[in-house]
Amino acid sequence: MCGIIGYIGNKEASKILISGLEKLEYRGYDSAGLAVIDNKENKTSEINRNNNGNKTNNGNKTNNNNNNTLHIFKSKGRVSRLYSAILPGKIGIGHTRWATHGLPADKNSHPFLDEKKEFAVVHNGIIENYLELKEELREQGVQFSSETDSEVIVHLLAKHYSGDVKDAVLKTIRRLKGAYAFCVLKNNSEEIIGARNGSPLVIGLGNNENFFASDVSALVEHTKNVVYLNDFELSRIRHKDVEIFDFNGKKKELKIKKIDWDLEQAQKSGYKHFMLKEIFEQPQVIAESLKLELEIKKIPFLMPKKAEEFENKSLQKIILVACGTASYAGLVGKYLIEKIARIPVINETASEFRYKDPLVSKDDIVIAISQSGETADTLAAIRLAKQRGAKTLGFINVIDSTIAREVDHVIYTRAGLEIGVASTKAFTSQLVCLYLLAFQLAGKKMNSSSLIEKIKETLSLNKEIKELSEQYFNYSNFLYIGRNMNFPLALEGALKLKEISYIHAEAYPAGELKHGPIALVSEETPTLALCPQDEVYDKTLSNIEEIKARKGKVIALATQGDEKIKQVADNIIFIPKTDPIFYPLLSAIPLQLFAYHLADRKECDIDKPRNLAKSVTVE
Ligand code: G6P
Repeated sequence: MCGIIGYIGNKEASKILISGLEKLEYRGYDSAGLAVIDNKENKTSEINRNNNGNKTNNGNKTNNNNNNTLHIFKSKGRVSRLYSAILPGKIGIGHTRWATHGLPADKNSHPFLDEKKEFAVVHNGIIENYLELKEELREQGVQFSSETDSEVIVHLLAKHYSGDVKDAVLKTIRRLKGAYAFCVLKNNSEEIIGARNGSPLVIGLGNNENFFASDVSALVEHTKNVVYLNDFELSRIRHKDVEIFDFNGKKKELKIKKIDWDLEQAQKSGYKHFMLKEIFEQPQVIAESLKLELEIKKIPFLMPKKAEEFENKSLQKIILVACGTASYAGLVGKYLIEKIARIPVINETASEFRYKDPLVSKDDIVIAISQSGETADTLAAIRLAKQRGAKTLGFINVIDSTIAREVDHVIYTRAGLEIGVASTKAFTSQLVCLYLLAFQLAGKKMNSSSLIEKIKETLSLNKEIKELSEQYFNYSNFLYIGRNMNFPLALEGALKLKEISYIHAEAYPAGELKHGPIALVSEETPTLALCPQDEVYDKTLSNIEEIKARKGKVIALATQGDEKIKQVADNIIFIPKTDPIFYPLLSAIPLQLFAYHLADRKECDIDKPRNLAKSVTVE
């Protein structure tokens, strides 16, 4: 996580960097900082903003050279803390932090400087051998100013520098273990160097100006021409010139790509939060994702005849790998594919996959599900699957993201730009892809007529759910239950509630309640029960009765026209009647709205919940 940015051109760098960092803030918002050089004076100034928001000028320190000044401004807190940083200069780097090593604090904010204050570094990733490196540098007399892993980079650079920044970077990266994307700025220079191994970094190509950023959202207002750095590549950008090298210093060709979206998508358009806007975009998003049927059909290893091969065991299994919300989409996918196509599916949490020596071979199809296409664990799972010869497919939202570029085939899920940290429309677009996949593997046609109308109808529950939130926002614990393919939705509903309202919630298959969690049922712990009219309806209804018999309050998500549920549940959210296989898609919406309104009632920071980041590019 963390977002990094760099700018070199003829405009005021601070403004461009701050505006870019705001776009990258979804990657972390524990602290932010800038380093900018101008070519007027020969000083380095360092300003920290203390916890009260007051400036604490760490003093202007004179450099030995008579050229460019390196100005630093950094602060704990959001990017908006940088608004007061008027740093002169047209070359700069910036950072927004999601803390891994060291508390969110001014001193742990990036950029970091070497002792002579000649180099500034911003880093995204984790330097795994930082303790060793720190010890070694300390023995050489280097004084550290932070608790971070990142600071070792800048001291190594200073140590290895002998006139050429690129060479110093090459020597430094030979010492680093772990994942990183970092940018380096040196005073007295007219260049920025960026290097990538494991964390994303993209170059924006402008007119007499060039950029680095963790992703294109920070660049799109300036340029549509970008170059994605690959792992083990570094780049030197100057005003009029961009070069790429491998980690041996050998020059490589630039592969320029065009971005085909703009910033309009990044506005709230009258909604109070991005999350609410994104929930309401789902009818269009789902309609778009449904159009992917033809693309999915064309993937050679998904031809329906292969379904027989699964039975013949020549193609052994499908493995879905993902994290967070995407992995709950994967779990729905498992139920769907096994039910509709009768093909065995393993749904793996990507962060567990690679460390358990997974059973994956060339006969398997490994499918990554990811909104960002950058999640470190999902990427590592795909790399392992490829090493073992498996065929790989990605259901990815962000175009040209790392996973999208690395899988054998990518299907872009078409959710559009998702800004709210809690995933909503990306989740339902992933579900649609998994439905299409299940039907494709079964050699059947999916009948989704009237689905969009039903999605719209479900969204009209918004007002009712808002009213319901008044009754429930004060509870500290919730249980979520569901059976069959609605169980993953219970997991997703509970995750949404935890993420944005900080209310503790646990989800269980309804039948598992009596094996432990029923001990938690009381008047203080309400249960949200997913109980649509499907083949396990009566079973779930019995579980609701068990909760009621123990004085637990129940909010049921049930099907319109269900009379029986009225006799047992305290509150009912009625969703439209549909083919039971589509209930997960419809249920997702009230669960999102319920979490949203409880969080809003509690005045939580819904689009940027505490401790979270939208794209998790560290293990
Ligand atoms: C983070 C986000 C979640 C997301 C998960 C996986 O934890 O906060 O909303 O589901 O990463 O992200 P991905 O981009 O791979 O879908």
